[in-house]
Amino acid sequence: MTSLADRHARVLSGMRPTGRLHLGHYHGVLKNWVALQQEYDCFFFVADWHALTTHYEDPSLIPRAVHEMVIDWLAAGIDPDKARLFIQSQVPEHAELHLLLSMITPLGWLERVPSYKDQQEALKEKDLATYGFLGYPLLQSADILIYRAGLVPVGEDQVAHVEITREVARRFNHLYGREPDFEQKAEAALKKMGKKAAKAFASQRRAYQEAGDTEALQAARDLLAEQQNLGLEDRERLLGYLEGGGRVILPEPQPLLTQASKMPGLDGRKMSKSYANTLALNDSPKAVEQKLRTMPTDTNRVRRTDPGDPARCPVWQFHEVYSSADTKDWVAQGCKSAGIGCIDCKQPVIDAVLAELGPMQQRAAEYEARPNLVRQVIEQGGAAARASAQATLAEVRQAMSLSYS
Ligand code: TRP
Ligand code: SF4
Repeated sequence: MTSLADRHARVLSGMRPTGRLHLGHYHGVLKNWVALQQEYDCFFFVADWHALTTHYEDPSLIPRAVHEMVIDWLAAGIDPDKARLFIQSQVPEHAELHLLLSMITPLGWLERVPSYKDQQEALKEKDLATYGFLGYPLLQSADILIYRAGLVPVGEDQVAHVEITREVARRFNHLYGREPDFEQKAEAALKKMGKKAAKAFASQRRAYQEAGDTEALQAARDLLAEQQNLGLEDRERLLGYLEGGGRVILPEPQPLLTQASKMPGLDGRKMSKSYANTLALNDSPKAVEQKLRTMPTDTNRVRRTDPGDPARCPVWQFHEVYSSADTKDWVAQGCKSAGIGCIDCKQPVIDAVLAELGPMQQRAAEYEARPNLVRQVIEQGGAAARASAQATLAEVRQAMSLSYS
């Protein structure tokens, strides 16, 4: 059984299948996932249903994009022995929870999500006045809540979706966590903790509820997590009893804000496929060299003898990501005094990018040579995810009076 402590430590994140990833994805998202998998129980999935909300007219490109993206995750160092990797549509429990949550979600909550209007504006050529598109933040809520994830690493643009997830969870617990005999059941559960622990819990609860003592709240949560004798439902009751509500069937997740990547594109704008300014994780060393050699520099530095200004040069931003303080000094001095040429200046960046991509490309090649292995990773990840999703769904069904037996 999953303890409460584990639950809080569970991390979930998803990415739409966009095909080959680039260094912007690596520095903005994947590097962070690789670090998180060392410390938390991580679930990372390909959001193929989310892709359909905007690309329903031509889904034929999705399977390849999924495959390429999974390869790039593995290449970047996501370790299938540490994290569960899977494809959303292979865990249909997400869809059932989405449906059930749709029953309790006011339309206004979805209409007010900023991305709803923004994206419709940005993608004018598409008809996004669909039921699926309106509902996609709720699908995302289901993605998160079905694993009772505690932490959701996302960028700034996705924080509103985690926020709506919290509201939906709160509403769900409010509606279905209030059993008529809740107090009695919670008190019976308390007895199962043993005298000493029960007494400590009760006084921590009082300290929190009467004096707002959040340290006592945390201590009580920790105490709960340590209890061996409590089943899942009793834990949920006691958690709710502690916090002053009903049973916490779906815990509220927290966003784990990923810092915006400092990695710019080759032209100094945000790295993005649509700007054609990317270094892909699978670009050959030759392509990497060529792209970096020809990338623009300070436009005022026309001749080798003209002094330049790093502040006006996209290459400098690469140095900010990759270079030591010494190298950066050498660049700043050499550029401003015309002591170095731009090709000289780019060489340490070229070396650093090649060194970073080398091991990734080696891993990618290993996986590409063994498509069965990739399939197996996805199957195993999917099976583990399903087991966890089914456990949540069983409770949700029961809470919503849908378990017939
Ligand atoms: N909506 C996210 C995006 O467009 C992807 C996503 C789907 C996601 N489900 C999620 C992210 C759950 C975090 C958690 O980038
Ligand atoms: Fe840019 Fe370096 Fe050339 Fe200066 S020397 S303009 S920082 S590439």
